[in-house]
Amino acid sequence: MKLLFFGPPGAGKGTQAKKVSEIFKIEHISTGDILREAVNKGSELGKKVKTIIDKGELVPDEIMNELVKEKIKDLDSFILDGYPRTIEQAKSLDRTLKELNKQIDAVVLIDVPEEEIVKRISSRRVCPNCGKVYNLITLKPKNDELCDNCGTNIIQRNDDREEIVRERYKIYQRNTYPVIEFYRKNNTIITIDGSKDVEEVTKELFNMLRRFR
Ligand code: AP5
Ligand code: ZN
Repeated sequence: MKLLFFGPPGAGKGTQAKKVSEIFKIEHISTGDILREAVNKGSELGKKVKTIIDKGELVPDEIMNELVKEKIKDLDSFILDGYPRTIEQAKSLDRTLKELNKQIDAVVLIDVPEEEIVKRISSRRVCPNCGKVYNLITLKPKNDELCDNCGTNIIQRNDDREEIVRERYKIYQRNTYPVIEFYRKNNTIITIDGSKDVEEVTKELFNMLRRFR
């Protein structure tokens, strides 16, 4: 199964993609996670993209296209979470898939209104060590502000401040929303109301995806 996950920042793409990845046994490729890991390691890529990510802007298409091509070339099933984010990236993915003789099965759109997003993201915390995602309102760690997996102090992402979140939302509307229209012509689009509880969203999503197994 090959899936694309779309949705505004904080819609729950990462949260849901992890569940689908576990249950359906398919690889979860989050371009945001890959970039943040590169920043944490201080690699060449990380140094190039740190200031862009902190401002909430998009990393150049050429970098993203190469990175994703490399990741998917040997995979038979995957979820792409956070890519493609521009029409240029979508065209590049199209070319790559043609070369590899692969096809997307479905495009998932998790939709959530802007005010709910700002609320959710302001209470998101992440573990800087293992990447686990928490929420101080809906998904607290068991022990104060320490990661359940590894005991590290959880922190707020640099790009999760309100003014940056609003900027990311604007960029989503301007650059990424049109990409969904690009897919509407030839692909099945599954639209999910992401403002419900995590469990309800998961249930709805699993029901919709069952037919692609
Ligand atoms: P990326 O990491 O992809 O950021 P994003 O798209 O803004 O998405 P988020 O990670 O903020 O949110 P999410 O939808 O995964 O939500 P989550 O599950 O965590 O990208 C970051 C940056 O990298 C970009 O700004 C850009 O600079 C760069 N980048 C990445 N890909 C790129 C590309 N292709 N091209 C160019 N640049 C690129 O949930 C959010 C919070 O809400 C959590 O606390 C969670 O616990 C909680 N939550 C989740 N679901 C629910 C629910 N149903 N109810 C209540 N709370 C919930
Ligand atoms: Zn951890």
